[in-house]
Amino acid sequence: MEIPKLTIGNTTVDVPVVQGGMGVRVSLASLATAVANAGGIGTISSMGLGDIEKSLTDYERDSRDSLIAEIRKAKSMTDGALAVNIMGVLSNADDLVRTSVAEGIKIIIFGAGLPTKLPALVPEEDVSLVPIIGSGRIAKLIMRTWDKKYQRMPDAFILEGPLAGGHLGFSLEQLENIEEYSLEKLLPGVLEELKPYEEKYGKKIPVIVAGGIYTGEDIAKMIKLGASGVQMGTRFVATEECGVSQEFKQAYLDAKEEDIVIIKSPVGLPGRAINNKFMKDVEAGKIPMKCPYHCLTSCKMGKAKYCIAQALVNSYFGDVDKGLLFCGQNAYRVNEILPVQGLIDELKQGIENA
Ligand SMILES: Cc1cc2nc3c(=O)[nH]c(=O)nc-3n(C[C@H](O)[C@H](O)[C@H](O)COP(=O)(O)O)c2cc1C
Repeated sequence: MEIPKLTIGNTTVDVPVVQGGMGVRVSLASLATAVANAGGIGTISSMGLGDIEKSLTDYERDSRDSLIAEIRKAKSMTDGALAVNIMGVLSNADDLVRTSVAEGIKIIIFGAGLPTKLPALVPEEDVSLVPIIGSGRIAKLIMRTWDKKYQRMPDAFILEGPLAGGHLGFSLEQLENIEEYSLEKLLPGVLEELKPYEEKYGKKIPVIVAGGIYTGEDIAKMIKLGASGVQMGTRFVATEECGVSQEFKQAYLDAKEEDIVIIKSPVGLPGRAINNKFMKDVEAGKIPMKCPYHCLTSCKMGKAKYCIAQALVNSYFGDVDKGLLFCGQNAYRVNEILPVQGLIDELKQGIENA
């Protein structure tokens, strides 16, 4: 198959691959710019940046300053396509959206929460707005709301299926019937919902699929089904440019299929992670809960079993026995750490061979 370009709003890239935003420093400038330089879209995650000590006194300001520093660093390292990922459950989500736009980011990817007021926050029409969704029903809800309130459409959707890493937009019951929610089953429904709005607005709304995409052949398959591109997370963790600790990457290399489990996250959503010592300690009630940051609106003190920000920071720095290791369902297939260019070349070859 010829490798199709991916266009989101005013941005066109040669490789139809978005590197997914990965919170708490997994996807920062180093990874995002390597992907952008290799011809894809590199995404900086705005979640959980900043210095722990400083965040204790002024979480919002420290997050903002750290995001600005990361965007400026990235812009000095690439002229390629960059996005920022923002999670709607963050208490400072609006501030992070505005900060990204003020720093010249042209693609905002918004997940973990309904983006009902996103167009009001970002009236700039040259900034592409890309909600992450898990079904055609949610796509329709967003388009109907934006149509009525803002006369504007998303510039793309990311359809994240249940095999993805990190937080999942599916209930525990749905995750027990994972086959029912496969990308192959979800995508046609989403494409169907888009049609009337694409007609009304006279523009194509690309759908980028995510969750379990591992090879170039997987990408080709999704494109044949009508996707315009893919978003990938797990494979980008296993790259040289991903800034997480060696221990984090080693946990991916060591993971077996049965080690990858669904967890209940303090965010209030299920997630997928490696069932390591930390997760077992959480289950056994051995982790004391402190809330240093107040970063999540959905994190209920008294109910949450641990501070997810602290647990992710621990993994980033290599203290994986005290850390949460998010990963996609296919993390057990990772058997080498590649440079990003090597990974992208492999994916391109796979698409061409398909
Ligand atoms: C370590 C890790 C952290 C993640 N953090 C976030 C996040 O903060 N926000 C988000 O929207 N998605 C997050 N994701 C999801 C990815 O952006 C991506 O959509 C997903 O991993 C795709 O599935 P794959 O891992 O099978 O490729 C995360 C994924 C991983 C593996």
